[in-house]
Amino acid sequence: MVNKITVVGAGHVSATTAQREAKNERERTVVMVDVVEGIPQGKGLDQWQSAPIEGFDSRIIGTNGYDETANSDLVIITAGIARKPGMSRDDLLNTNAGIVKQVAEQIKATSPKAIVIVVSNPLDVMCYVAKEVTGFPRERVIGMAGVLDTARYRSFLALELDVSVEDIQAMVLGGHGDTMVPLVSYTTVSGIPVSQLLAADKLAAIVDRTRNGGAEIVAFLKTGSAYYAPSSAAVQMVEAIALDKRRILPCSAWLQGEFGLKDVFCGVPCRLGRKGLEGIIDIKLTDAERADLVKSAEAVQATQAVVDAG
Ligand SMILES: NC(=O)c1ccc[n+]([C@@H]2O[C@H](COP(=O)([O-])OP(=O)(O)OC[C@H]3O[C@@H](n4cnc5c(N)ncnc54)[C@H](O)[C@@H]3O)[C@@H](O)[C@H]2O)c1
Repeated sequence: MVNKITVVGAGHVSATTAQREAKNERERTVVMVDVVEGIPQGKGLDQWQSAPIEGFDSRIIGTNGYDETANSDLVIITAGIARKPGMSRDDLLNTNAGIVKQVAEQIKATSPKAIVIVVSNPLDVMCYVAKEVTGFPRERVIGMAGVLDTARYRSFLALELDVSVEDIQAMVLGGHGDTMVPLVSYTTVSGIPVSQLLAADKLAAIVDRTRNGGAEIVAFLKTGSAYYAPSSAAVQMVEAIALDKRRILPCSAWLQGEFGLKDVFCGVPCRLGRKGLEGIIDIKLTDAERADLVKSAEAVQATQAVVDAG
């Protein structure tokens, strides 16, 4: 258990994350901070009033300033605009870079020891902005994408195979975009390689659906993007860190030679514990998977090179 967790934003992903987080009681206080007056206060109070029914004692506070967030153990950045139909995550670049920069400056000033989990899109590049502005070491700036993309992949496989989601072990690496890399060679169903259970064309269709998993939801919602599964994914990362679980989860991390990649944020298998990113597992990939991972990292690097993170 930790003392304080801040969720920056009081929108769809943020409010759902705060609610799930408080219910899990991994912290004494959850602070939601947003620029819109009244929204974080109102949502925070509403959520706190669910506490006697849901049975949790983590206090939830909503605010427009950073005083209440001071000395947070963890900060989850979900501030920014979300996609609408026809938009790619990269279309959000300039607006969200400005927002994440402003947020990162506040975090650096008020919670200099925090571990930061970035959720805002385009994810990997927003991690870069947060790392550049805070100056925090890579152990304390980690991106949420792979846990969500993997959950989508696992959920589609469970439906197709008609088995429990719990029995599907898998990992999706790479950047959080159309070039993400679901690792078929590491996908098992209770230890059975998935290729023994599903025909190649069906597997390829699921991989494709996973890559477009976010867009599928955006096309339904029309006014925004997914938030139930994204908030679950952020909360799983918080739990791994707050409880020092040393879980191995696919997260976006600042690579320094792992997988032959350097100076880029990209989704890789990470060990998460109380210090944040406690290790990167440099696993063997097939030639095709490695080529896909390099391509995906190059796509992130191209956007990273043009973003204003100064
Ligand atoms: N990494 C992922 O897998 C993933 C998944 C889902 C959503 N996202 C991203 O998360 C972000 C939030 O999505 P959402 O659906 O919650 O959007 P939303 O519009 O519902 O909420 C965003 C909130 O950010 C607030 N905000 C804007 N500027 C701010 C600032 N400077 N400080 C504090 N708050 C500020 C807004 O007022 C708003 O309440 C988007 O960029 C979206 O693309 C990422």
